[in-house]
Amino acid sequence: MNLERRFQSQCRASITRFRTILPVPWCSRGILLSEGFAVCAMCDMFGVRTMIESGIHHGRSTRIWSKYLTTVTAIDFAITAEARKALGDSGTTLLAGNGTSIVLREIDKSEADAIVVFIDGPKDAGALDIVRRALSKPSVRFVAIHDVPRLRDGGPNKFRRLLAEHSGGTFFTDAKWFTDEYSWLDKDESRQDEKSGMRWVPGELIASQGKGGYRFGSYGPTVGFMINIRGLDSRAIDSDEYVKLQLNII
Ligand SMILES: C[S@@+](CC[C@H](N)C(=O)[O-])C[C@H]1O[C@@H](n2cnc3c(N)ncnc32)[C@H](O)[C@@H]1O
Repeated sequence: MNLERRFQSQCRASITRFRTILPVPWCSRGILLSEGFAVCAMCDMFGVRTMIESGIHHGRSTRIWSKYLTTVTAIDFAITAEARKALGDSGTTLLAGNGTSIVLREIDKSEADAIVVFIDGPKDAGALDIVRRALSKPSVRFVAIHDVPRLRDGGPNKFRRLLAEHSGGTFFTDAKWFTDEYSWLDKDESRQDEKSGMRWVPGELIASQGKGGYRFGSYGPTVGFMINIRGLDSRAIDSDEYVKLQLNII
């Protein structure tokens, strides 16, 4: 069985537990529930219970991790009052500062032998910088990064190719089988974004108010997963299966 198939089976096994943590309230600029579910299922597949996140804002993603995983450390330049209120009693460690340096410091400090890093700020080159360095740490099983959709015309995105080059394999949540099976999680997610004024409608359309709008090339903002070949161990997957995970979807 290749890794994508294995992940599909894992999703079918993990959805029962994921449903028990719902609802997780929608937050402006937050990830979609289907995206949060993909991260949780990937954690189950790699035996990960420890999350280090950069980019909290009002804490939608952080709330998902704090309900599903055991140990969560989350970083943002400033911790918003909403995030503090929502996460204050959750046991999550909230750190104010720059994720570019703090994520690596927290990986080194952690005693966990299986860690996931989730990056939702910084974006693009700043995120890639964290990806590269995090994947040099054997305890990091995979890195997940938000906002990596295809180009608006549906074409391949150079950044997605770069991510594939820097990891042992990738998976993106706009894979058709994944959205076919789990877009129901997002049925109530169509809201106005406070920063851009844009509105996401499940299945592609982003319309900006008064500006005409445009179509995403992907189902939604999209989480990309980079698997760490260095984290390979007996619990994980044969190395040839990592190679097979160089999927046809970038
Ligand atoms: C899109 S929001 C995060 C949303 C959140 N993950 C959720 O699902 O609700 C991006 C956040 O990343 C933070 N950010 C951007 N660059 C950062 C950096 N270098 N270090 C820490 N936080 C950063 C911003 O302050 C902002 O709050």
